[in-house]
Amino acid sequence: MSKKYYITTPIYYPSGKFHIGTAYTTVLADTLKRYRTLRGYDTYLLTGTDEHGQKIQNKAQELGKTPKEYVDEMAQMAKDLWKLMDINYDQFIRTTDEKHEKVVQKIFDKFMESGDIYKGEYKGLYCVPCETFFTETQLVDGKCPDCGREVIPMKEEAYFFKMSKYADRLLKYYEENPDFIKPSYRKTEMINNFIKPGLEDLCVSRTSFDWGIKVLKDPKHVVYVWLDALTNYITALGYMSDNEELFNKYWPADLQIVGKDIARFHLIYWPIFLMALDLPIPKTIFVHNWITMKDGKMSKSKGNVVYPELLISRYGLDATKYFLLKEMPSSTDGVFSPEEFVERFNFDLCNDLGNLLNRTISMVNKYFEGKVPKYKGIVNDVDKDLEDFTISQIKKVEDTIEELEISLTLQEIWAIISRTNKYIDETMPWAQAKEENKEKLESTMYHLIENLRKIAILLKPFMSDTSDNMLKQLGIKEENLKTWESLNKYDQIDNVKVIEKGKPLFMRLDAEEEINYIKNGMKK
Ligand code: ME8
Ligand code: MG
Repeated sequence: MSKKYYITTPIYYPSGKFHIGTAYTTVLADTLKRYRTLRGYDTYLLTGTDEHGQKIQNKAQELGKTPKEYVDEMAQMAKDLWKLMDINYDQFIRTTDEKHEKVVQKIFDKFMESGDIYKGEYKGLYCVPCETFFTETQLVDGKCPDCGREVIPMKEEAYFFKMSKYADRLLKYYEENPDFIKPSYRKTEMINNFIKPGLEDLCVSRTSFDWGIKVLKDPKHVVYVWLDALTNYITALGYMSDNEELFNKYWPADLQIVGKDIARFHLIYWPIFLMALDLPIPKTIFVHNWITMKDGKMSKSKGNVVYPELLISRYGLDATKYFLLKEMPSSTDGVFSPEEFVERFNFDLCNDLGNLLNRTISMVNKYFEGKVPKYKGIVNDVDKDLEDFTISQIKKVEDTIEELEISLTLQEIWAIISRTNKYIDETMPWAQAKEENKEKLESTMYHLIENLRKIAILLKPFMSDTSDNMLKQLGIKEENLKTWESLNKYDQIDNVKVIEKGKPLFMRLDAEEEINYIKNGMKK
């Protein structure tokens, strides 16, 4: 039986269109699911929408819709985007799904009974027109961050969850499970900024709005968003329902991916809720950084928001995904700029990758009528160096994926591409073609085709269509020549014929024109 692999993305607030930054989390999750699937795992990817709360209620009202009408439209918008981005999720959960709501009520009940949840008073700064509480730090110039009006100190009856009770257990868990938080500097942040100074109890109910899940035993309260939202990862699998099959199979999650702004909720509150439910904790929670612009955060008012549709419709999904995954280091924020996007497209995709394929295909046609010569072992002086380098790079690709250093993974793959390009300069096939004995030329062509086959397989989780397209042009049809396991050896291609005329994988862009195109698109 194959090993299971359960991956989750955060569930998105449906408060507007998703830009490339928000889409990043899901693109990354999908990429890692594809990788695990290719490695033989039984994978399950969960995504969805986080549909309750004051903000959504207000937004719907502004648009003259009921909250339900509004979230229905937004959930559809999310599904349409994930379809366009070819996201292979297994389930799309909505927090308004009945199966979710019922279980959240049961969980709340259970916490009331165990004493983890108690009744108290919520104090905060309240904006009356927005009917929203804010903390001091959320205010903008001392005023409501949403409407800019005065806020007043207010209190309301509310339920709280006893976070403090679990602080020591959480610290112990962190210590004993070094893989729980990646990258590890996020753990240090949590300990120093939130746990060491003393964990505050978390407010888990509200009475000031009603677009939420009602507390069964006290229905003037609705469950506050984070307890509602976080539990989606288990309600989706049927936890506490009459069918717990998925839950038994897939929980605990193998990988939960979140952006840095919601790290605290996932690294502190979430494991504590699970401890209180006596459930296993996810194996790894990965926190990624943000995609920003040269002038800071993307925002509508700055006119610097990039939506995925703008890039996908003109440059294709694979180029868009390549850029997002490549430009996000694990230590700092990634920066999007139209200049960099066009440069990566022209250099990495057209020149390095596209030309390598094209040159190779035309040489195999020119010298061998498209038929890939048989493997002869090490013939050219540089054959061994190419083989050794490539095999050691494949190991690095696997290691960096394991560490979730995906930007590095792409670098390691591109190192193989560069090495293979260099191999053409070293072997000089045009000179080899003039020799009487064709053995050297045969070995060169074999190695080029074999390396391109390896590159195509390595790219499969990241750029699925490009990978398929490459294999097709190379004439690789057998399924066993498309597996990850087939990467380790050099002698497997036999009786393969490349297509007669290669088609460019990517068409070179006119830099100035395209930079302007993207800049104009950002203002819309
Ligand atoms: O936070 N770059 O939903 P959300 C990279 N509903 N990632 C970004 C980003 C950027 N510029 N901006 C946002 C929520 N994100 C909650 C989650 S989970 C139980 C509840 C990421 O729609 C953000 O970090 O505000 C998060 O991972 C995702 O987009 C959805 O954010
Ligand atoms: Mg957010």
